Amino acid sequence: MNFTLQNGRNIPAVGLGTWRAKQDDVYKAVLKALDAGYRHVDTAVIYGNEEEVGRGIADSSVPRTDVFLTTKIWNTMHTRDAAAQQIDESLSRLKTDYLDLVLIHWPGSYERNAAVWTAMEDAVDAGKIRSIGVSNFLIHHIDALLSTARIRPAANQVECHINLQNTRLQQYLDGKDMRLEAYAPFKSDRIKDVLDNKTLNEIGRSHGKTATQVVVRWLMQRGIVALPKSVTPSRIEENFDVFDFELTDDEMLAIRKLNKGERTFPEPDNVDFGFEHL
Ligand SMILES: NC(=O)c1ccc[n+]([C@@H]2O[C@H](COP(=O)([O-])OP(=O)(O)OC[C@H]3O[C@@H](n4cnc5c(N)ncnc54)[C@H](OP(=O)(O)O)[C@@H]3O)[C@@H](O)[C@H]2O)c1
Repeated sequence: MNFTLQNGRNIPAVGLGTWRAKQDDVYKAVLKALDAGYRHVDTAVIYGNEEEVGRGIADSSVPRTDVFLTTKIWNTMHTRDAAAQQIDESLSRLKTDYLDLVLIHWPGSYERNAAVWTAMEDAVDAGKIRSIGVSNFLIHHIDALLSTARIRPAANQVECHINLQNTRLQQYLDGKDMRLEAYAPFKSDRIKDVLDNKTLNEIGRSHGKTATQVVVRWLMQRGIVALPKSVTPSRIEENFDVFDFELTDDEMLAIRKLNKGERTFPEPDNVDFGFEHL
């Protein structure tokens, strides 16, 4: 299943996450995921696995044109020249001549975000990138970016799960025709909170599904792209087996009640990693 981005391009509703997937594992995970039906892979320069992701796509039986591939510009690359160089290096590591989506990984200052954005717009003009977006951006970062952007951001990838539902951010993004992408859909290291959750397990039982499948389905029904990470073949399959059931309005509401505004990742206005030297 696909969602549509504001530029008319499709984005598959479920993508394979690859953060902390080691090189050997990620190659096999990409092959497994493409075989299981995934058509969307999410990586980033800082994950250190672009080479293996690219090799996995190239060695699979799925044509590159059928795969939606995302990477992200890291925090140490927040100038126009550095970002431009990084895009070229990502293309080479990923063994492709275009990227479907490139994101600014974390917001820097408004000026730096605008400078990186210009490099990304240039890369769109040059045919190197199809869509551009942001990640970990709060509303004020997006408002500032929109005041100078020539090409509007297509997506914002943020932490989003049962305990951090981002309902107001999603309303804002809907108003700007930007797609929300959910990272850490299972709360990352705190996945136990998902696996042990009573509500998710009860709902799952009534559909013959697991707690993680309920989460992916819940995100999809909210119009949010889900990016579950796994390097375990059975889990890769499990997380994608979500297209044959539907959550009722009551079930969606029960999950909505699990929101606690609880972050597992840093609050984006207080991130220092990669910015120390700038
Ligand atoms: N933009 C950003 O700043 C940012 C930040 C974080 C993440 N992301 C993206 O979002 C993706 C997902 O986030 P995440 O990797 O932090 O966490 P996540 O997808 O919420 O959780 C991944 C963890 O859950 C385990 N898992 C996956 N499916 C499972 C299942 N069905 N049953 C039991 N355990 C399961 C995985 O183990 P195994 O792998 O061992 O199976 C792994 O330990 C990342 O990989 C990355 O692509 C982006």
